[in-house]
Amino acid sequence: MERTLIIVKPDGVQRGLAGEIIKRFEQRGLKIIGMKFMLVSRELAEKHYAIHRERDFFPKLVNYITSSPVIALALEGPNAILAARTTIGKTKPFEAEAGSIRGDFALEVDYNLVHGSDSPENGLAEVANFFSEAELFPGWSRNVDPWIAVQR
Ligand code: RTP
Ligand code: MG
Repeated sequence: MERTLIIVKPDGVQRGLAGEIIKRFEQRGLKIIGMKFMLVSRELAEKHYAIHRERDFFPKLVNYITSSPVIALALEGPNAILAARTTIGKTKPFEAEAGSIRGDFALEVDYNLVHGSDSPENGLAEVANFFSEAELFPGWSRNVDPWIAVQR
């Protein structure tokens, strides 16, 4: 079972695509264990994107993610990292497959609508950066769980 942090980025919220974006993860079968509407602080943005600190696009990236509220989700499921990234589509939306979120709704890397963690370790770390323990409900089960994934 993996955990991934999904962020409906400021452009996703501003464009009224939050419901459409969340729907795609929900209908894929990933289980929501946390969700909140929030403004990302500069401190959290710099921590979240620390790996890109030396890149020329870093200031632009921090300005973008802090510019307007986002919706953060913590999702769980088997192979949740890759499953979510496939649903999201390639980083550069003009290369993203039709049917993916970016392939259906975005054109430019600067406004690519959604974030998904890129490894199981980062999924755990990023969820912990965005959510307190009290905001997460990993224990709840859905009646449909046995029809979505093999129960282990
Ligand atoms: P994310 O982390 O947001 O899910 O996106 P990703 O894994 O597909 O892409 P990543 O390489 O982690 O890049 C993080 C975000 O930085 C912005 N970016 N801009 N050349 C550029 O100007 C450039 N490259 C990346 C994008 O917002 C990307 O999602
Ligand atoms: Mg990334």
